[in-house]
Amino acid sequence: MHARAWTTACLWQVPQDPAALLETAAEHLWLHASEWQALTRRPDRRLLVAGRGCTVVDAQGREYLDALAGLWLVQIGHGREEVAEAMARQARTLAYASASRAVTLPAIALAARLAELAPGDLSTVLFCSGGSEAVESALKIARQYHVLRGEPQRYKVIARRGSYHGATYGAMSVSGDRRRVDPYFGPLVPGGLAVSAPYCYRCDYRKTYPSCDVYCVEAIEELIRFEGPGTVAAVIAEPVSAACGVVVPPPEYLPRLREICDRHGVLLIFDEVITGFGRTGALFAAEHWGVVPDLMTVAKGLSSGYAPIGAVLCRRPIAQAFRGDPGKALAHLLTFGGHAVACAAALANLEILERENLVANAACQGRHLLAQLRELAARHPAVGDVRGLGLLCALELVKDQTTKATFAPEGEEITFLLDTLATLGVLTRADTCVYLAPPLCIQRPELERLVAALDTALTRFEQAYGYL
Ligand SMILES: Cc1ncc(COP(=O)(O)O)c(C=O)c1O
Repeated sequence: MHARAWTTACLWQVPQDPAALLETAAEHLWLHASEWQALTRRPDRRLLVAGRGCTVVDAQGREYLDALAGLWLVQIGHGREEVAEAMARQARTLAYASASRAVTLPAIALAARLAELAPGDLSTVLFCSGGSEAVESALKIARQYHVLRGEPQRYKVIARRGSYHGATYGAMSVSGDRRRVDPYFGPLVPGGLAVSAPYCYRCDYRKTYPSCDVYCVEAIEELIRFEGPGTVAAVIAEPVSAACGVVVPPPEYLPRLREICDRHGVLLIFDEVITGFGRTGALFAAEHWGVVPDLMTVAKGLSSGYAPIGAVLCRRPIAQAFRGDPGKALAHLLTFGGHAVACAAALANLEILERENLVANAACQGRHLLAQLRELAARHPAVGDVRGLGLLCALELVKDQTTKATFAPEGEEITFLLDTLATLGVLTRADTCVYLAPPLCIQRPELERLVAALDTALTRFEQAYGYL
């Protein structure tokens, strides 16, 4: 192939041969897709070289609205000098110190800041490198906590079907779609149980809100009783589940879930990996319902993607159970937990979120986006439902409004829609839904552009697939 020096020098030049680079990527990068060559063919797979605010730029200089904020996480927007500066400064000063023997200033400052910001007494922070590790850590904390309290038989964890909590073994074992993982990785970690999500558009119990009396949360209590409360360690739930299709629970759901967990001595874990740091128009989604979980997992928006970092926030009494005797310590040392440069990035990110009122902006722009999406839904037969909270929104696609039949998540129709959107200058993600979660710094003109592109793409989609 071509002679090229793979050094940092090649990172700062505009690539002259993007097609050849995509070939190299398809050859050497393990990609999250079964068809790796898609990278060289599909308009929505790009070699991205730069970003500023809500816009990313590809190697040919084309600009795209980043309608998914990377992967639901670039809250403050791309290209923020202030974060780059904080990271560079920390790297120059002290990039790393052993997590087992020392602490660094950025880790102390970030832990203290998170304790101030988090709801209730979620004030002890365990750092890690991302969302899966955060969930993994929370599951281990929950299990060991019960052992330390003298209830070692509590090992089961209840999740909701369709949820996603991560790719590592423990997180995968409590994630939604067992059909996709069991054939390759079973048996999974024992004790993973699942109930239906509060997905009112397609209620598994064939009920209609509000006459259902929120049966889906009662089903969790029934399961706890059936399994035996003394065997259940935790319930894990995203307050708003992106993986289930941006499912926003009915108002009673999470407060009742808190009561159920309390009644049975079960820990409540909120997975706020996507919803944390303003995504839903509150700093943490738990605030919308006034519920304080026992453990909260965060990642993504904690650094807006400028550095890989995640954390588990623990309520004080839970953390206290691990103190005192060396035998009580959590057997869980992560080399990169509390990485100084990542913590500096997160601190700078939190400062921007606060100074620029981005959480309030997410609430306000999110209301507008949802209203616009509802207006689109009224005109487009391909849209079966619209859901969202803050800047976490989805349009659910259907073949037919009455039957609610869906398209195959990675089928030709969804590919057509994503490619059309990319051609119109919008990058996002879609399966049975089209997801919209732009950076929280988005302003009205960019939102209007996003909605106009969606409108055009849906019209082309409906023309291509026989609705019109
Ligand atoms: C709710 C939730 N939890 C956990 C994870 C896993 O995070 P990561 O990919 O950073 O390991 C994700 C990833 O999207 C997620 O959406």
